[in-house]
Amino acid sequence: MISQKSIDEIIDTARIEEVVGDFVTLKRRGINFIGLCPFHNEKTPSFNVNPARNIFKCFGCGQGGDSVQFIMEHDGMSFTEALRYLAAKYKIEIEETKPSAEQQILIDETESLHIINQYAVGFYSDQLFNTDMGKSVGLSYFKQRGFLEETIKKFNLGYSPGERDAFTRNAVKAGYNPDLLKKLGLTTASDNDFFRSRVIFPIHGLSGKISAFAGRTLSSEAFGPKYLNSPESAVYNKSKTLYGLFHAKQAIRKHDECLLVEGYTDVISLHQGGVENVVASSGTSLTVEQIRLIKRYTQNILIVYDGDPAGIKAALRGIELILEEDLKVKIVLLPDKHDPDSFFKEVGHSGFTEFIENNKKDFVSFRISLAADEIKGDPVKKMGFIQEIVRTLAKIPHQLVRAEYIKEISEKYKIAEQLITLDINRQVIKMLREREEKAEKDKKQQEISIDDSEQPETATEIRVSTYDHSVQEKDLIRVLIHFGDKIFDENSGATVAQYIYNNTVDILQYFDVPLYKLILENVANLIDSGQSPGPDYFLKHQDSEIRNVAMNALQEQYVYSEKWNKPLQTQKPPEENFVKDALFVVRILKYRKFARICKEMEQKMLESKSPEDEIKYLKMNMKLQELKRETGKPLNIIIFGE
Ligand code: UTP
Ligand code: MN
Repeated sequence: MISQKSIDEIIDTARIEEVVGDFVTLKRRGINFIGLCPFHNEKTPSFNVNPARNIFKCFGCGQGGDSVQFIMEHDGMSFTEALRYLAAKYKIEIEETKPSAEQQILIDETESLHIINQYAVGFYSDQLFNTDMGKSVGLSYFKQRGFLEETIKKFNLGYSPGERDAFTRNAVKAGYNPDLLKKLGLTTASDNDFFRSRVIFPIHGLSGKISAFAGRTLSSEAFGPKYLNSPESAVYNKSKTLYGLFHAKQAIRKHDECLLVEGYTDVISLHQGGVENVVASSGTSLTVEQIRLIKRYTQNILIVYDGDPAGIKAALRGIELILEEDLKVKIVLLPDKHDPDSFFKEVGHSGFTEFIENNKKDFVSFRISLAADEIKGDPVKKMGFIQEIVRTLAKIPHQLVRAEYIKEISEKYKIAEQLITLDINRQVIKMLREREEKAEKDKKQQEISIDDSEQPETATEIRVSTYDHSVQEKDLIRVLIHFGDKIFDENSGATVAQYIYNNTVDILQYFDVPLYKLILENVANLIDSGQSPGPDYFLKHQDSEIRNVAMNALQEQYVYSEKWNKPLQTQKPPEENFVKDALFVVRILKYRKFARICKEMEQKMLESKSPEDEIKYLKMNMKLQELKRETGKPLNIIIFGE
């Protein structure tokens, strides 16, 4: 076990920007670095590296932590593995200590399981290469399937003999704990071998350790399933495992695409043939977790399934899940009676890649081609079909991506794009609603929370509030009263009051506090006549309510609403920093107003009685989305749920 002293030394020595920099291209921004997040898809960087605090944080997906956590998450390593990786990187000698009894039990549990699996790999491989049965049955089977010895070794393939307990006996003799053998499913409850007379496909975890096995029967009339798969264990979670990913990782990154096939042998065949960016969702239908694993390496998934009804059904299900994760998906169905393995063998590398290039479809074309015969000349069926596609489209988080598909359907079926958009938006809003309701239930909404970073450049997390904006309005008025007559922009000579007024006039009608609105309207007259109000103007105002506001604002220490004071405390004192403050108060208020109006438009859309109204509100909603995004940008606001 690594001593605490060594752990501290490793954590202190590792520079977050260097550790991350090995995997992510970082650009300096102020004292921080930014880059594209390796844990989720993005086109504009929200992945933040803070050297001062030696941490990283993605404001898009929320991943964050120190160097060790980065390596753990990025490379699927355990805590200890990540420490060893960093120690090697920084040439730190690790001091080992004896773990406590309880610690030992925990470590033993997973480590021994991995060690036993490794032993099993050795055993099955030895059987394959060095026993008569292994050679004549197992090895000849692999060879007859066209697997080269190099490939067999690379994927650690093996053979399990037919005797009742050959493996278990050997393992126990070698000192391995029978209880753990059972936990891994290698030994049955009645002390027999789980895999017998089967060829063995070890399943690697992300870091290359063996987490489980699959065994394929060799006789066609044997009892039981074609493939037996290890049960889940402390080292094997099948919904979070993709067969082949360990061997495919680099190629997936390189090609920026991941082929998804159905079978173990498909992965191996393609890999051997030079198509290395391929994985299979082994022993289970595709899961969200598996898609997220792929997402670490690419945004592009190409489903390559058999062209039979089962393959089509699996493809359709996969497509939905993939789209929901905001990944791009294409589909190829192989010619009848072929799976990737058999097809590749028949047509070879170039034949295979050509076929894929010529036949891959995005999902709308795929769906359209599937339904073409069925809906020909049947308008009712056609409408039902389109509705179905629309439901799928609504799951795509990205509007631009959706727009492309809408165009395609519109052209193909001669339906106005607007109508399709409308339908999709209804679905989207419904989904958002449901999601929001769920989120609200899950977590009592915190109105606004700001990263406790000391760097003003770092992104600010804002929970969109559709509620009361009086706090933000008050802050805006406070800046106006304190600094209205100060110069905001040296070049144009514009004052703070002018800036504030010009940039809030369009949202004035949406103010929550009438008095604040009144103050701004008052300022308008002054500004029109070329003046700018300072503190005195408000203190001596004829309206006693305005005088009161001014008195309170000026009497109070110049503090911000405590909900967002953090990034501001570290800036220059307010009397020197009013430009930045003015920018901030204006933007944050506008942002919130836009967010709220946006929501209102959504509501109106849902309630509208005519398609014309609906389109009107939809358009307004979209415009506001854009305004909101624009306003949020300089604040580095990341909107939750977007
Ligand atoms: P297939 O039946 O298509 O097998 O199952 P395959 O991979 O093409 O294997 P070969 O070419 O006949 O040797 C596809 C995948 O479904 C899972 C396995 O992951 C298999 O690779 N499967 C299939 C099972 O887990 N159990 C089974 O009994 C059958
Ligand atoms: Mn096959």
